[in-house]
Amino acid sequence: MRAALLTASRRKSVRRVVERAPVSRNVVKRFVAGASVDDAVATTEQLVASGLTVSLDHLGEDTTEIAHAKATTSAYLALLDRLAAVRLAAKAEVSVKLSAVGQALDRSLGLDNAREICAAAAVAGTTVTLDMEDHTTTDSTLETLAELRGDYPWVGAVVQSYLRRTEADCRALATAGSRVRLCKGAYKEPESVAYQRGQDVDESYLRCLAILMAGRGYPMVASHDPALVEAAERLVAGSGRAADSYEFQMLYGIRPDEQRRLAGAGHTVRVYVPYGDDWYGYFMRRLAERPANVKFFLRALRSRS
Ligand code: FDA
Repeated sequence: MRAALLTASRRKSVRRVVERAPVSRNVVKRFVAGASVDDAVATTEQLVASGLTVSLDHLGEDTTEIAHAKATTSAYLALLDRLAAVRLAAKAEVSVKLSAVGQALDRSLGLDNAREICAAAAVAGTTVTLDMEDHTTTDSTLETLAELRGDYPWVGAVVQSYLRRTEADCRALATAGSRVRLCKGAYKEPESVAYQRGQDVDESYLRCLAILMAGRGYPMVASHDPALVEAAERLVAGSGRAADSYEFQMLYGIRPDEQRRLAGAGHTVRVYVPYGDDWYGYFMRRLAERPANVKFFLRALRSRS
């Protein structure tokens, strides 16, 4: 099922059917803040008021036109402006997919656009994290990260524990001031580069987590998995890390009670909040993660037909 949904997430024919199903929008609402900057800001305000922090993602990926990459960059600039104007920038950063700002067209275009977003984030007083996409982009994303960090050392990296290379990447990235989000990974990857069994992905996550927590950087523990969250809490307690030297991260709409519990226990918790019209790829990856979400979607479809 996971493989089929991840394949479908890249098929134009399936995309048309899912996007046009009237029920999709209702189900999508659970995972996406809305279409506009106003929706994104309103959701951020609510989350911040309940003690959480936020990373905002302007939805879109696999951009194949320069004009589209430019439009996405402009959307981020407008968002950062608004976050500063409503004084949310201290609690809300942005997450950027390099493919949405032109990396697939030309790496230097992606770099230039990402640099513009970083400059605006610096003015607003917040940070940027570069989302990680499929394994064919890992090297170029890490190269872009290194170049951006030359000017903006706070730019965050993402590593995926399903990739066999990630332990080595964690060792290289666990340096002073380095913000690193550790997640399991959300794409369909071949055996040659990625663990296929859930248990192997989880064990890799634990090894990577131990490296990041023992290092000098700022680990960002991105998972909803109760066993991994508990392991991270234990590592934090054991290492004596200060409360401002790491954070937990979860996706908007997933385990909100756990997000509040962690924040109540004194941890920084950041909620990843996607917004915008281009929700298809993101939505399909969320369905792929959990059979119950597919059942929920199908039940909603049936009740409408
Ligand atoms: P896992 O999928 O095993 O889920 C554990 C438990 O969490 C489930 O049993 C369920 O209770 C709950 N859960 C998980 N997913 C759910 C869902 N969709 N709906 C409802 N409940 C769910 N990936 C990537 O490749 N590049 C990236 O840049 C990012 N960025 C990122 C940021 C943040 C803040 C998070 C939390 C995640 C990402 N991811 C990502 C996605 C990540 O790689 C992974 O696909 C998901 O987090 C699901 O993995 P879990 O660790 O939650 O475990």
